[in-house]
Amino acid sequence: MEKSKIGLVGLAVMGQNFALNIASKGFPISVHNRSPGKIDATVARAKEEGNLPLTGYADVGEFVASLERPRRIVILVKAGAPVDATIAKLVPLLDAGDIIIDGGNEWYPNTERRAAKVAEAGIQYIGMGVSGGEEGARNGPSLMPGGPADAYEAIRPIVEKVAAQVDDGPCVMHIGPGGAGNYVKMVHNGIEYGDMQLIAEAYDIMKRIGGLTNDELGDVFTQWNEGELDSFLVEITSKIFRKKDDQGQPGHLVDYILDKTGMKGTGRWTIQEGAERSVAVTTMNAALDGRFLSGLKEQRVAASSLFTDPPLPKVDKAQLVDDVRQALYCSKICSYAQGMNLIRAASEEHDWNLDPGGIARIWKGGCIIRAGFLDQIKKAYDRNPNLPSLLVDSEFAKELGERQAAWRRVVGLSVQSGIAAAGFSGSLAYFDTYRRASLPANLVQAQRDFFGRHTFARTDREGTFSADWE
Ligand code: 6PG
Repeated sequence: MEKSKIGLVGLAVMGQNFALNIASKGFPISVHNRSPGKIDATVARAKEEGNLPLTGYADVGEFVASLERPRRIVILVKAGAPVDATIAKLVPLLDAGDIIIDGGNEWYPNTERRAAKVAEAGIQYIGMGVSGGEEGARNGPSLMPGGPADAYEAIRPIVEKVAAQVDDGPCVMHIGPGGAGNYVKMVHNGIEYGDMQLIAEAYDIMKRIGGLTNDELGDVFTQWNEGELDSFLVEITSKIFRKKDDQGQPGHLVDYILDKTGMKGTGRWTIQEGAERSVAVTTMNAALDGRFLSGLKEQRVAASSLFTDPPLPKVDKAQLVDDVRQALYCSKICSYAQGMNLIRAASEEHDWNLDPGGIARIWKGGCIIRAGFLDQIKKAYDRNPNLPSLLVDSEFAKELGERQAAWRRVVGLSVQSGIAAAGFSGSLAYFDTYRRASLPANLVQAQRDFFGRHTFARTDREGTFSADWE
């Protein structure tokens, strides 16, 4: 029997769909799963979806033996211990030169640890971020593979075909060595958290202050999706506001959903990494805190009876909607600037030589944060590959300048109305801090020197100083 080009272990939602995607691009694939029920289901789907070249193996030895060499095996199991267990099962059956590709949302040092371990047996290891959910996995995700460049070359013909395709190519490239692929996927998820928070704040402000109905909100988001905010998340938001309740209650489903946000945790890593690398990730941090506080539903209900809401100001609805659009756009620029800065800091720290413009390009399609806006980010890095921040790119700086008055009005209104907009206001504070030549940090330095002789530099002469403060 002809050997398969590639193998895949782990047939939960992402694995099953990714395997079918690979098969549908004409690459014969072998699949394996711990519980055989999922193998049968995948094989049945492959048949149904046009007799795709996919073969299931319940026995891991037969699975490995069915693969062309060097063997290429994608693992799509839950991050953490299940990945270690899968590797332990595979490695004794593999040969030097074979390649393991972990497609999970993995913490990047775990990938580097595993890569070093399997390298002892001459096996190469790729940590590949995969974004796009179920639909993306089946029809074209954004792929962020990191690891040895020659191992990437060995999977390149396949991943370039299965990734989402945009105007300037497939949404995949070799991200960099080591855990770089997982790192970039982690930042993608931090940005995803930020985008979702900003959209939720826009909703809150337009609903509470502007009095927009769900139908009106659906229309606003549809309209926004046709302009500068064009993106997958804005598009699905417009659809969410149109969905009627599916349990027979009157009105829209969104109004019956409990206001407690869950999470699997990759967004949290982005904030931890921001702290680790001394990179401000204010917008994403607001999103994470927003999720934490949303979880305190019972406490919030109790606290709500202790305070009264400030009166809502009268507003011009159309003006409010237009201002919120601009505030969302400006905040989004800040959030992506933070994400890109984190990527650059990690790249310098680990000597990864990451390409921020290329990363923006492969996020243009397939992934959750896909947006027209990413093309502009790519162009900003084409203009200047060493851009210190997206905020100072000529095009983005112009857009921020034109929109900042609207952004300030929205933040002012939300503060006045008692509606938290930590993403909008945090992003504005980030912008206002970054764009100012002088900050009150001189006072903090004075305080540090006052109580701890931590010393300070002066603006008018070289050297290190300390004063007798009393
Ligand atoms: C993607 C997503 C995905 C992530 C979910 C849930 O790119 O396809 O980022 O990998 O798991 O978005 O994340 P939370 O449960 O942490 O919100």
